[in-house]
Amino acid sequence: MRFIWPISGLLAAALAFPEVPVGRPILENVGTSDLFPMPECFGFELEEATIDEMQHAMTHDNLTSTQLVTCYLLRNYQTAPYINSIMQVNADVFAIAAARDRERANGEVRGPLHGIPFIVKDNIASKDSMETTAGSWALLGSIVPRDAFVLSKLRTAGAVLLGKASLSEWADMRSNNYSEGYSAVAGQCRSAYNLTVNPGGSSTGSGVAVGANVIPFALGTETDGSVIHPAMRNAVVGVKPTVGLTSRAGVVPESEHQDSVGTFARTFRDAVYVLDAIYGVDPNDNYTLAQEGRTPEGGYAQFLTTKCALKGAVFGLPWNSFWVYADEAQQRALVELVGMIEAAGATIINETEITNYETLVSPDGWNWDWGTTRGFPNESEYTYIKVDFYNNIHSYLTELNNTSIRTLEDIVRYNYDNDGTEGGNPWPLGHPAFYSGQDGFLVSMETKGIQDEEYWQALEFCQSSTRKGINDALNHNGMKLSGLLVPPDVGQTYQIAAQAGYPMITLPAGIHEDSGMPYGLGIMQTEFAEAELVKWGSAIEHLQRASDTKYKRTLPTWRGHLERNIPVPF
Ligand SMILES: *[C@@H]1O[C@H](CO)[C@@H](O)[C@H](O)[C@H]1NC(C)=O
Ligand SMILES: *[C@@H]1O[C@H](CO)[C@@H](O)[C@H](O)[C@H]1NC(C)=O
Ligand SMILES: *[C@@H]1O[C@H](CO)[C@@H](O)[C@H](O)[C@H]1NC(C)=O
Ligand SMILES: *[C@@H]1O[C@H](CO)[C@@H](O)[C@H](O)[C@H]1NC(C)=O
Ligand SMILES: *[C@@H]1O[C@H](CO)[C@@H](O)[C@H](O)[C@H]1NC(C)=O
Ligand SMILES: *[C@@H]1O[C@H](CO)[C@@H](O)[C@H](O)[C@H]1NC(C)=O
Ligand SMILES: *[C@@H]1O[C@H](CO)[C@@H](O)[C@H](O)[C@H]1NC(C)=O
Ligand SMILES: *[C@@H]1O[C@H](CO)[C@@H](O)[C@H](O)[C@H]1NC(C)=O
Repeated sequence: MRFIWPISGLLAAALAFPEVPVGRPILENVGTSDLFPMPECFGFELEEATIDEMQHAMTHDNLTSTQLVTCYLLRNYQTAPYINSIMQVNADVFAIAAARDRERANGEVRGPLHGIPFIVKDNIASKDSMETTAGSWALLGSIVPRDAFVLSKLRTAGAVLLGKASLSEWADMRSNNYSEGYSAVAGQCRSAYNLTVNPGGSSTGSGVAVGANVIPFALGTETDGSVIHPAMRNAVVGVKPTVGLTSRAGVVPESEHQDSVGTFARTFRDAVYVLDAIYGVDPNDNYTLAQEGRTPEGGYAQFLTTKCALKGAVFGLPWNSFWVYADEAQQRALVELVGMIEAAGATIINETEITNYETLVSPDGWNWDWGTTRGFPNESEYTYIKVDFYNNIHSYLTELNNTSIRTLEDIVRYNYDNDGTEGGNPWPLGHPAFYSGQDGFLVSMETKGIQDEEYWQALEFCQSSTRKGINDALNHNGMKLSGLLVPPDVGQTYQIAAQAGYPMITLPAGIHEDSGMPYGLGIMQTEFAEAELVKWGSAIEHLQRASDTKYKRTLPTWRGHLERNIPVPF
């Protein structure tokens, strides 16, 4: 009954619509840009199509949701042997699409997402014939109590669940040295921009699939960077909301204090349609109570705007806090983009800093145990994350049926018992994708979930100092800034936002010349200031798209498409 792959559905679709080219790309004698061409979808130009364009075609032409599903499944069939962004296809996807098509034919359109296919990261529970495993064989066959709240909201909005996105197993909680984008269930997911390097994670497939036009939008989750990082590295828009705006009920957890469900799309408008569909108060996640009275009536799409809005905006550049860590070429490129924003009428304030950045920001890249590194475990993010994980995963597992996996201890034992697939022991005993074995789980297990003095000190320190740091930077000599512009390729940016529980977005902003991998321009803001982020993100995106700058989204180049290295370099 479980784990049914709709192969027959796929073949039926391919046979029924033979005019859509099926199969593998021609691999010889072609420039990389000619690889993996995306065919039209029944006369509709699907590559890079926006959600509005799809709606328009479904309303005015003869495009249907069923046809969209067919075309995206074929796109997945074409690309999966290379990038592996979707790890499981929903056996019900044609039935759901047909139901939405019937509704439309009867004049019922639920909203902007009606009939639009999407995927969710495999740590987001679906109560259907699909598995929810977080990428681990340990959860195969387990039965979830219900759809995750965010997924049920998307179903209600009329969107069509096409499958589950590949991810870094257990959203990167398990190991400290690992192959990003790898899970035992899915194998290695790779970025279509360069298949040999870190594709971004832990919401890897969510970013990769949207970036390679395998799906219009996706959900992912973030504890510390797992939305912003893969969005940035696949040249798509990523929105990581304030902790508590999007419910985590039904999501395989990492830390209740930092987990947030976020959205991936190719345009800001698309990402915001999805945010509007998923946010809200959920009795099964009491952190969502904090949003009451702090969300705009009518949702966030009303704040989407154009470059004209930039006249009068005032952005801060926390230069010494973050920008100094960006490599020189990227710094130059992003400063040029910032110059365009200034030329469009915005004021740029250089050197408005995160208060106490000298202490809070690791000078040496992303490091969620930075407090311990500098000698203060009682001021380190990892000190409470590892305790939270122990407790939060137990709560999640308690609600499952048909599994003997109930505790972190059970998972750890499972990994040891299945070393060859799950890499319980470090390489070379275990698996090359999990070089350090399950060291992340082991330190979490050691805590036994005990919230001691050190735990509370660390939580209080990280939350209050990063919140103060961001809020101070946003208040420049009494003037309230529109946002902080940052280079999200500098992992310390989303680390500070993560500890604060504050929102952050990333926009595609350019390509590293050596690797071909994309980077982004980020905006940071204070809690529940998503309306500001929507306004400025969409304004800057419009500015980019209305100009001939190269500092914006570009299509994947499929560099290294025949390589299959594992692990990918960290
Ligand atoms: C309707 O679909 C057919 C293919 O099934 C296509 O040839 C035609 O262009 C479409 N019509 C419109 C108005 O898009
Ligand atoms: C688990 O099984 C029990 C007993 O059959 C049932 O009452 C409960 O609803 C099931 N829960 C899930 C998550 O399927
Ligand atoms: C991480 O793993 C790689 C192999 O994937 C290894 O070369 C490297 O030394 C490891 N780093 C650390 C800090 O152990
Ligand atoms: C949510 O509920 C749990 C107990 O179910 C409690 O420990 C926690 O403090 C609550 N959190 C908030 C933000 O109310
Ligand atoms: C911001 O200030 C720093 C330090 O003075 C300087 O190095 C940098 O070039 C400035 N950046 C911009 C965009 O003006
Ligand atoms: C779940 O477990 C129960 C009790 O062992 C069994 O009757 C049921 O068939 C199982 N359900 C699935 C879907 O495997
Ligand atoms: C952490 O511990 C040190 C002593 O080792 C102390 O000086 C410091 O104030 C503590 N930090 C917090 C946030 O309590
Ligand atoms: C992929 O990126 C790596 C790391 O920057 C680089 O060495 C390699 O040349 C890139 N691959 C291609 C085909 O450009």
